[in-house]
Amino acid sequence: MANSEGLHENETLLRPETIDRHRALTSLQEELEAADWYDQRVDATQDAELGAILAHNRDEEKEHAMMLLEWLRRHDPVLDAHMRTYLFTEGPITGIEAQAEGRPSGDRSSGGGQPGSLGLGDGKP
Ligand SMILES: [Fe+2]
Repeated sequence: MANSEGLHENETLLRPETIDRHRALTSLQEELEAADWYDQRVDATQDAELGAILAHNRDEEKEHAMMLLEWLRRHDPVLDAHMRTYLFTEGPITGIEAQAEGRPSGDRSSGGGQPGSLGLGDGKP
């Protein structure tokens, strides 16, 4: 049944808003995958004009992806909060979590790194 492909629970148990978020997430995945495929084709082609077209198409997929991401942000308060914490920041990304949780940024218990480090934590997952 094509309309429930990718659902992990019986559709009758899911709220309409959950199914719409699934639609958006699936579409976001498809847009990002398309951008990746175009990226590889841009690298591989020896034809400059074809490469320019493929790069144009790739970049449109990124626009589509961001429209979907914005829709998801508006329909998922937790995603919205995490996006507000992590997006458009500078410095070690893992250090942002410690900062957001009120821990010293050098606290490596959740992957945060020393200030000025690459924020790679201790290498454990
Ligand atoms: Fe697209």
